[in-house]
Amino acid sequence: MALTVRFHEYGGPEVLRLDEVDPGEPAAGEVLIRVDAIGVNRAEALFRAGQYIEQALELPARLGAEAAGVVERLGPGVDGLEPGQAVSVVPAFSQNDYGVYAERAIVPARALLPRPSTVDAVTGAAVWMPYLTAYGAMAEVTGLRPGDVAVVTAASSGVGLAALHTAARLGATPIAVTRTRAKADRLLAEGAAEVVVSGEQDVAGRVLELTGGRGAAAVFDAVAGPGVVDLARAVAAGGTLLLWGAQSGRPTPYPGFELGMPALNVRTFTVQEITRDADRLRRAAAYVASGLRDGAFRAVVDRLFPLTEIAAAHRYLDSGARFGKVVVTVRR
Ligand SMILES: NC(=O)c1ccc[n+]([C@@H]2O[C@H](COP(=O)([O-])OP(=O)(O)OC[C@H]3O[C@@H](n4cnc5c(N)ncnc54)[C@H](OP(=O)(O)O)[C@@H]3O)[C@@H](O)[C@H]2O)c1
Repeated sequence: MALTVRFHEYGGPEVLRLDEVDPGEPAAGEVLIRVDAIGVNRAEALFRAGQYIEQALELPARLGAEAAGVVERLGPGVDGLEPGQAVSVVPAFSQNDYGVYAERAIVPARALLPRPSTVDAVTGAAVWMPYLTAYGAMAEVTGLRPGDVAVVTAASSGVGLAALHTAARLGATPIAVTRTRAKADRLLAEGAAEVVVSGEQDVAGRVLELTGGRGAAAVFDAVAGPGVVDLARAVAAGGTLLLWGAQSGRPTPYPGFELGMPALNVRTFTVQEITRDADRLRRAAAYVASGLRDGAFRAVVDRLFPLTEIAAAHRYLDSGARFGKVVVTVRR
Protein backbone atom coordinates (compact mmCIF):
# COMPACT_ATOMS: atom_id res chain seq x y z
CA MET A 1 0.00 0.00 0.00
CA ALA A 2 1.13 3.58 -0.60
CA LEU A 3 0.04 6.84 0.97
CA THR A 4 -1.74 8.55 -1.93
CA VAL A 5 -3.34 12.00 -2.14
CA ARG A 6 -6.89 11.96 -3.52
CA PHE A 7 -9.92 14.23 -3.47
CA HIS A 8 -13.36 12.74 -2.95
CA GLU A 9 -15.16 15.97 -3.87
CA TYR A 10 -14.17 19.18 -5.67
CA GLY A 11 -13.18 22.12 -3.51
CA GLY A 12 -10.39 24.01 -1.74
CA PRO A 13 -7.14 22.53 -0.39
CA GLU A 14 -9.09 20.94 2.48
CA VAL A 15 -10.59 18.33 0.14
CA LEU A 16 -7.17 16.70 -0.34
CA ARG A 17 -7.03 13.46 1.65
CA LEU A 18 -4.23 11.02 2.39
CA ASP A 19 -5.54 7.55 1.55
CA GLU A 20 -3.75 4.20 1.71
CA VAL A 21 -4.03 2.90 -1.86
CA ASP A 22 -2.55 -0.15 -3.57
CA PRO A 23 -0.61 1.32 -6.52
CA GLY A 24 -1.06 -1.97 -8.41
CA GLU A 25 1.26 -3.55 -10.96
CA PRO A 26 2.56 -1.71 -14.02
CA ALA A 27 0.86 -2.80 -17.27
CA ALA A 28 2.49 -2.76 -20.72
CA GLY A 29 4.37 0.50 -21.26
CA GLU A 30 4.08 1.50 -17.59
CA VAL A 31 6.54 1.78 -14.71
CA LEU A 32 6.04 1.67 -10.94
CA ILE A 33 8.18 4.32 -9.26
CA ARG A 34 9.02 5.24 -5.69
CA VAL A 35 8.24 8.94 -5.47
CA ASP A 36 10.80 11.11 -3.61
CA ALA A 37 9.66 14.64 -4.52
CA ILE A 38 6.66 16.16 -6.29
CA GLY A 39 6.40 19.43 -8.20
CA VAL A 40 3.20 21.31 -7.37
CA ASN A 41 1.57 23.17 -10.21
CA ARG A 42 -1.50 25.32 -10.90
CA ALA A 43 -3.03 22.58 -13.06
CA GLU A 44 -3.44 20.39 -9.96
CA ALA A 45 -5.10 23.15 -7.94
CA LEU A 46 -7.52 23.74 -10.81
CA PHE A 47 -8.18 19.99 -11.23
CA ARG A 48 -8.89 19.74 -7.47
CA ALA A 49 -11.33 22.65 -7.73
CA GLY A 50 -13.11 21.27 -10.83
CA GLN A 51 -11.89 24.27 -12.89
CA TYR A 52 -9.21 22.66 -15.04
CA ILE A 53 -9.39 22.13 -18.81
CA GLU A 54 -10.59 18.60 -18.00
CA GLN A 55 -12.84 17.40 -15.20
CA ALA A 56 -12.15 14.35 -13.01
CA LEU A 57 -13.88 11.42 -14.71
CA GLU A 58 -14.46 9.70 -11.38
CA LEU A 59 -14.10 10.47 -7.68
CA PRO A 60 -12.06 9.89 -5.62
CA ALA A 61 -9.44 11.23 -8.02
CA ARG A 62 -5.64 11.19 -7.87
CA LEU A 63 -3.60 14.14 -9.03
CA GLY A 64 -0.07 15.30 -9.85
CA ALA A 65 2.07 15.15 -12.97
CA GLU A 66 5.61 16.26 -12.00
CA ALA A 67 7.88 14.22 -9.76
CA ALA A 68 11.29 12.67 -9.16
CA GLY A 69 11.92 9.21 -7.83
CA VAL A 70 13.39 5.81 -8.48
CA VAL A 71 12.17 2.99 -10.74
CA GLU A 72 10.82 0.01 -8.75
CA ARG A 73 9.25 -2.25 -11.39
CA LEU A 74 8.88 -2.23 -15.16
CA GLY A 75 5.74 -3.29 -17.01
CA PRO A 76 5.99 -5.54 -20.06
CA GLY A 77 7.71 -4.08 -23.09
CA VAL A 78 9.48 -1.20 -21.32
CA ASP A 79 13.04 -0.72 -22.64
CA GLY A 80 15.78 1.68 -21.65
CA LEU A 81 14.95 1.86 -17.94
CA GLU A 82 15.90 -0.42 -15.06
CA PRO A 83 14.91 -0.94 -11.42
CA GLY A 84 16.90 1.33 -9.10
CA GLN A 85 17.33 4.02 -11.77
CA ALA A 86 16.69 7.62 -10.73
CA VAL A 87 14.11 9.36 -12.94
CA SER A 88 11.99 12.49 -13.32
CA VAL A 89 8.33 12.41 -14.35
CA VAL A 90 7.19 15.00 -16.90
CA PRO A 91 3.52 15.92 -17.44
CA ALA A 92 2.75 13.76 -20.47
CA PHE A 93 -0.59 12.32 -19.35
CA SER A 94 -4.03 13.18 -18.07
CA GLN A 95 -4.50 13.29 -14.29
CA ASN A 96 -7.51 11.07 -14.99
CA ASP A 97 -5.10 8.30 -15.97
CA TYR A 98 -2.17 8.75 -13.55
CA GLY A 99 -1.32 10.81 -10.46
CA VAL A 100 2.06 11.20 -8.74
CA TYR A 101 0.95 12.73 -5.41
CA ALA A 102 1.83 9.47 -3.63
CA GLU A 103 4.62 7.48 -2.02
CA ARG A 104 4.59 5.13 -5.00
CA ALA A 105 2.85 5.58 -8.34
CA ILE A 106 2.47 4.02 -11.75
CA VAL A 107 3.31 6.28 -14.68
CA PRO A 108 3.73 5.72 -18.43
CA ALA A 109 7.36 5.01 -19.39
CA ARG A 110 7.13 7.72 -22.07
CA ALA A 111 6.73 10.31 -19.25
CA LEU A 112 10.07 9.37 -17.63
CA LEU A 113 13.42 11.05 -18.16
CA PRO A 114 16.61 9.61 -16.65
CA ARG A 115 17.82 11.70 -13.69
CA PRO A 116 21.62 12.01 -13.50
CA SER A 117 23.13 11.22 -10.09
CA THR A 118 24.15 14.89 -9.78
CA VAL A 119 20.47 15.98 -9.85
CA ASP A 120 18.76 15.63 -6.45
CA ALA A 121 15.08 14.69 -6.19
CA VAL A 122 13.82 18.20 -5.36
CA THR A 123 15.58 19.65 -8.42
CA GLY A 124 14.46 16.70 -10.53
CA ALA A 125 10.85 17.38 -9.56
CA ALA A 126 11.05 21.17 -9.98
CA VAL A 127 12.75 21.88 -13.29
CA TRP A 128 11.11 19.89 -16.07
CA MET A 129 7.57 21.21 -16.31
CA PRO A 130 8.53 24.91 -16.17
CA TYR A 131 11.41 24.67 -18.64
CA LEU A 132 9.67 22.29 -21.07
CA THR A 133 6.72 24.71 -21.10
CA ALA A 134 8.96 27.73 -21.63
CA TYR A 135 11.10 26.07 -24.32
CA GLY A 136 8.08 24.65 -26.16
CA ALA A 137 6.21 27.93 -26.27
CA MET A 138 9.16 30.27 -26.80
CA ALA A 139 11.48 28.32 -29.09
CA GLU A 140 9.27 25.79 -30.87
CA VAL A 141 5.92 27.55 -31.19
CA THR A 142 6.79 31.24 -31.23
CA GLY A 143 10.25 30.95 -32.76
CA LEU A 144 11.68 33.61 -30.46
CA ARG A 145 14.99 34.86 -31.91
CA PRO A 146 18.01 36.76 -30.58
CA GLY A 147 17.20 40.42 -30.14
CA ASP A 148 13.46 39.83 -29.78
CA VAL A 149 11.63 41.25 -26.78
CA ALA A 150 9.55 38.73 -24.80
CA VAL A 151 7.00 39.84 -22.19
CA VAL A 152 6.16 37.33 -19.44
CA THR A 153 3.19 37.79 -17.08
CA ALA A 154 2.84 36.09 -13.65
CA ALA A 155 6.62 36.30 -13.86
CA SER A 156 7.26 35.05 -10.34
CA SER A 157 5.58 31.69 -10.99
CA GLY A 158 7.62 28.57 -11.69
CA VAL A 159 6.80 28.85 -15.39
CA GLY A 160 7.34 32.63 -15.38
CA LEU A 161 10.88 32.36 -14.01
CA ALA A 162 11.74 29.54 -16.43
CA ALA A 163 10.45 31.77 -19.23
CA LEU A 164 12.71 34.64 -18.15
CA HIS A 165 15.73 32.29 -18.15
CA THR A 166 14.75 30.69 -21.47
CA ALA A 167 14.23 34.01 -23.23
CA ALA A 168 17.66 35.13 -22.05
CA ARG A 169 19.29 31.87 -23.19
CA LEU A 170 17.69 32.30 -26.63
CA GLY A 171 19.29 35.76 -26.82
CA ALA A 172 15.98 37.58 -26.39
CA THR A 173 15.22 40.35 -23.88
CA PRO A 174 12.77 39.30 -21.14
CA ILE A 175 10.39 41.85 -19.64
CA ALA A 176 8.69 40.59 -16.47
CA VAL A 177 5.13 41.59 -15.55
CA THR A 178 4.13 41.12 -11.91
CA ARG A 179 1.10 42.33 -9.97
CA THR A 180 2.86 44.20 -7.18
CA ARG A 181 6.27 45.75 -6.56
CA ALA A 182 7.03 43.19 -3.83
CA LYS A 183 8.79 40.75 -6.17
CA ALA A 184 10.40 43.28 -8.55
CA ASP A 185 13.96 43.14 -7.19
CA ARG A 186 13.99 39.34 -7.19
CA LEU A 187 12.73 39.30 -10.79
CA LEU A 188 15.59 41.60 -11.82
CA ALA A 189 18.00 39.27 -10.00
CA GLU A 190 16.53 36.35 -11.99
CA GLY A 191 17.41 38.05 -15.28
CA ALA A 192 14.46 40.27 -16.17
CA ALA A 193 15.74 43.21 -18.22
CA GLU A 194 12.80 45.29 -16.94
CA VAL A 195 9.93 44.73 -14.53
CA VAL A 196 6.47 46.18 -15.17
CA VAL A 197 4.09 46.26 -12.19
CA SER A 198 0.60 45.65 -13.53
CA GLY A 199 -1.09 46.97 -10.38
CA GLU A 200 0.57 50.39 -10.80
CA GLN A 201 1.59 50.81 -14.42
CA ASP A 202 -0.01 50.80 -17.88
CA VAL A 203 1.57 47.51 -19.03
CA ALA A 204 1.12 48.00 -22.79
CA GLY A 205 2.17 51.66 -22.58
CA ARG A 206 5.34 50.74 -20.68
CA VAL A 207 6.24 47.89 -23.07
CA LEU A 208 5.73 50.18 -26.06
CA GLU A 209 7.93 52.79 -24.36
CA LEU A 210 10.65 50.21 -23.65
CA THR A 211 10.59 48.97 -27.27
CA GLY A 212 10.64 52.38 -28.95
CA GLY A 213 6.98 52.07 -29.94
CA ARG A 214 7.47 48.78 -31.82
CA GLY A 215 6.06 46.38 -29.23
CA ALA A 216 7.27 42.95 -28.14
CA ALA A 217 7.82 40.05 -30.53
CA ALA A 218 5.78 37.90 -28.18
CA VAL A 219 3.80 38.15 -24.97
CA PHE A 220 3.53 34.96 -22.87
CA ASP A 221 0.46 35.36 -20.70
CA ALA A 222 -0.57 33.15 -17.79
CA VAL A 223 -3.28 35.53 -16.55
CA ALA A 224 -5.75 35.76 -19.51
CA GLY A 225 -9.19 37.34 -18.88
CA PRO A 226 -10.12 40.88 -19.98
CA GLY A 227 -6.47 42.03 -19.63
CA VAL A 228 -5.53 40.33 -22.91
CA VAL A 229 -6.95 43.24 -24.89
CA ASP A 230 -4.42 45.55 -23.29
CA LEU A 231 -1.62 42.99 -23.58
CA ALA A 232 -2.37 42.64 -27.31
CA ARG A 233 -1.51 46.33 -27.70
CA ALA A 234 1.99 45.49 -26.48
CA VAL A 235 2.63 43.01 -29.33
CA ALA A 236 4.61 44.13 -32.40
CA ALA A 237 3.03 43.75 -35.86
CA GLY A 238 3.23 40.08 -36.85
CA GLY A 239 4.00 39.06 -33.28
CA THR A 240 2.32 36.56 -30.98
CA LEU A 241 0.16 36.73 -27.89
CA LEU A 242 0.51 33.23 -26.41
CA LEU A 243 -1.89 32.21 -23.64
CA TRP A 244 -0.56 29.46 -21.39
CA GLY A 245 -2.58 29.98 -18.22
CA ALA A 246 -5.78 31.52 -16.89
CA GLN A 247 -4.88 32.96 -13.49
CA SER A 248 -7.58 35.64 -13.67
CA GLY A 249 -10.31 32.98 -13.72
CA ARG A 250 -12.35 35.28 -15.97
CA PRO A 251 -13.57 34.84 -19.55
CA THR A 252 -11.04 35.89 -22.16
CA PRO A 253 -12.19 38.11 -25.05
CA TYR A 254 -10.54 37.79 -28.47
CA PRO A 255 -8.51 40.97 -28.99
CA GLY A 256 -9.45 41.95 -32.55
CA PHE A 257 -11.95 44.48 -33.78
CA GLU A 258 -11.57 46.98 -30.93
CA LEU A 259 -7.83 47.13 -31.65
CA GLY A 260 -8.36 47.73 -35.38
CA MET A 261 -7.78 44.09 -36.43
CA PRO A 262 -3.98 44.14 -35.92
CA ALA A 263 -1.50 41.68 -37.49
CA LEU A 264 -1.60 39.62 -34.31
CA ASN A 265 -1.24 35.89 -33.78
CA VAL A 266 -3.16 34.62 -30.76
CA ARG A 267 -2.17 31.11 -29.71
CA THR A 268 -3.02 28.85 -26.79
CA PHE A 269 -0.47 26.31 -25.62
CA THR A 270 0.04 23.52 -23.14
CA VAL A 271 3.25 21.64 -22.43
CA GLN A 272 1.51 18.43 -23.45
CA GLU A 273 1.97 19.53 -27.08
CA ILE A 274 5.64 18.82 -26.38
CA THR A 275 5.55 15.98 -23.85
CA ARG A 276 3.10 13.77 -25.76
CA ASP A 277 5.22 13.88 -28.93
CA ALA A 278 8.40 11.78 -28.60
CA ASP A 279 10.46 13.87 -31.05
CA ARG A 280 9.45 17.20 -29.58
CA LEU A 281 10.07 15.92 -26.04
CA ARG A 282 13.52 14.62 -27.04
CA ARG A 283 14.49 18.02 -28.48
CA ALA A 284 13.04 20.01 -25.59
CA ALA A 285 14.62 17.73 -22.97
CA ALA A 286 18.01 18.06 -24.67
CA TYR A 287 17.71 21.85 -24.64
CA VAL A 288 16.68 21.97 -20.98
CA ALA A 289 19.39 19.49 -19.97
CA SER A 290 22.05 21.60 -21.68
CA GLY A 291 20.74 24.71 -19.90
CA LEU A 292 20.91 22.90 -16.57
CA ARG A 293 24.48 21.77 -17.34
CA ASP A 294 25.76 25.23 -18.28
CA GLY A 295 24.02 26.93 -15.34
CA ALA A 296 21.59 29.05 -17.39
CA PHE A 297 18.72 27.01 -15.94
CA ARG A 298 18.22 26.02 -12.31
CA ALA A 299 15.52 25.04 -9.89
CA VAL A 300 14.04 28.11 -8.20
CA VAL A 301 12.34 26.42 -5.26
CA ASP A 302 10.30 28.66 -2.99
CA ARG A 303 9.14 26.23 -0.31
CA LEU A 304 9.19 22.54 0.57
CA PHE A 305 6.27 20.75 2.24
CA PRO A 306 6.09 17.11 3.37
CA LEU A 307 3.49 14.91 1.65
CA THR A 308 1.47 14.81 4.86
CA GLU A 309 1.03 18.62 4.55
CA ILE A 310 -0.25 18.56 0.99
CA ALA A 311 -3.26 20.73 1.90
CA ALA A 312 -0.90 23.40 3.30
CA ALA A 313 1.13 23.21 0.08
CA HIS A 314 -2.03 23.86 -1.96
CA ARG A 315 -3.11 26.68 0.37
CA TYR A 316 0.27 28.30 -0.22
CA LEU A 317 -0.10 27.77 -3.97
CA ASP A 318 -3.53 29.40 -3.94
CA SER A 319 -2.21 32.40 -1.98
CA GLY A 320 -0.22 33.70 -4.99
CA ALA A 321 2.62 34.61 -2.61
CA ARG A 322 5.14 32.29 -4.13
CA PHE A 323 8.36 32.99 -5.97
CA GLY A 324 9.26 29.90 -7.98
CA LYS A 325 8.26 26.29 -7.37
CA VAL A 326 6.53 24.64 -4.48
CA VAL A 327 7.87 21.11 -4.00
CA VAL A 328 6.50 18.32 -1.81
CA THR A 329 8.96 15.83 -0.36
CA VAL A 330 8.11 12.26 0.53
CA ARG A 331 9.83 11.33 3.79
CA ARG A 332 10.16 7.78 5.00
N1 LIG B 1 0.29 25.77 -20.58
C1 LIG B 1 0.99 24.92 -19.86
O1 LIG B 1 1.37 23.83 -20.28
C2 LIG B 1 1.32 25.29 -18.47
C3 LIG B 1 2.16 24.48 -17.70
C4 LIG B 1 2.41 24.86 -16.39
C5 LIG B 1 1.85 26.02 -15.88
N2 LIG B 1 1.05 26.76 -16.67
C6 LIG B 1 0.44 28.00 -16.19
O2 LIG B 1 1.48 28.88 -15.83
C7 LIG B 1 1.05 29.68 -14.73
C8 LIG B 1 2.05 29.52 -13.62
O3 LIG B 1 1.92 28.24 -13.07
P1 LIG B 1 2.80 27.80 -11.85
O4 LIG B 1 2.25 26.52 -11.38
O5 LIG B 1 4.23 27.91 -12.23
O6 LIG B 1 2.58 28.95 -10.77
P2 LIG B 1 1.26 29.54 -10.06
O7 LIG B 1 1.28 29.26 -8.63
O8 LIG B 1 0.05 29.15 -10.78
O9 LIG B 1 1.52 31.09 -10.33
C9 LIG B 1 1.76 31.94 -9.29
C10 LIG B 1 1.88 33.36 -9.81
O10 LIG B 1 0.79 33.76 -10.64
C11 LIG B 1 0.51 35.12 -10.41
N3 LIG B 1 -0.90 35.21 -10.02
C12 LIG B 1 -1.53 34.52 -9.07
N4 LIG B 1 -2.85 34.83 -9.04
C13 LIG B 1 -3.04 35.73 -9.99
C14 LIG B 1 -4.17 36.45 -10.44
N5 LIG B 1 -5.39 36.28 -9.92
N6 LIG B 1 -4.01 37.32 -11.44
C15 LIG B 1 -2.79 37.48 -11.98
N7 LIG B 1 -1.69 36.83 -11.60
C16 LIG B 1 -1.81 35.95 -10.62
C17 LIG B 1 1.42 35.58 -9.30
O11 LIG B 1 2.55 36.18 -9.91
P3 LIG B 1 2.95 37.71 -9.61
O12 LIG B 1 2.85 37.86 -8.12
O13 LIG B 1 4.34 37.80 -10.14
O14 LIG B 1 1.99 38.53 -10.36
C18 LIG B 1 1.82 34.28 -8.63
O15 LIG B 1 3.09 34.32 -8.03
C19 LIG B 1 -0.36 29.17 -14.36
O16 LIG B 1 -1.30 30.00 -14.99
C20 LIG B 1 -0.41 27.79 -14.95
O17 LIG B 1 -1.72 27.38 -15.26
C21 LIG B 1 0.78 26.42 -17.94
